[in-house]
Amino acid sequence: MSDAPKAPAPTPRPPGAAVPRRPRPPRQRGTELEPPRKPEQLSRRKFAWLGLTGTLGVIGLGLVRYFWPRVLYEPPTTFSVGYPGDYGFGVDSRWQSKYRIWVCRDAEKLYVINAVCTHLGCTPDWLSSANKFKCPCHGSGFDSAGVNFEGPAPRPMDRCKVWLAPDGQVMVNTLVLFPTDKWGEKDAYIA
Ligand code: FES
Repeated sequence: MSDAPKAPAPTPRPPGAAVPRRPRPPRQRGTELEPPRKPEQLSRRKFAWLGLTGTLGVIGLGLVRYFWPRVLYEPPTTFSVGYPGDYGFGVDSRWQSKYRIWVCRDAEKLYVINAVCTHLGCTPDWLSSANKFKCPCHGSGFDSAGVNFEGPAPRPMDRCKVWLAPDGQVMVNTLVLFPTDKWGEKDAYIA
């Protein structure tokens, strides 16, 4: 026989009385079905997402570039270069990079040289110290009138159409060109 105290006998429930429920322990959602992830699993998943996002981004950029309208921005071919009084005697190269021309003045006239080497089309430079145009590609040289005198260029450089607008400004059209034998024609120079 044991001397341990006995548990009190349950009190008899009256017939029809509700059965009291036992309180349940609090539920932890999300932790019952899968074990907690390890840190390396997280970083692997993150890395995969980053890779996928990057790949999709590159593909998207490629598509945008493919469908983007390709517009070639070229300088206008007809434009004003100011007034005749803006130009002194000699070669003025202020428009070389913008319009690929030189505005020149000699004792009788003003004319505009198309800055395209007649060898293979490079843009020569005006060397004022040497008083000549020098092509950086294969060494052709032209005098201040655009006439070739050294290197492989086969002929002088062309001149552009030039005229005076009603307001007195000098207008140039680089699509209308005058080769050497037409330098004396109307619109090849301004007197
Ligand atoms: S392109 Fe000018 S010398 Fe060849």
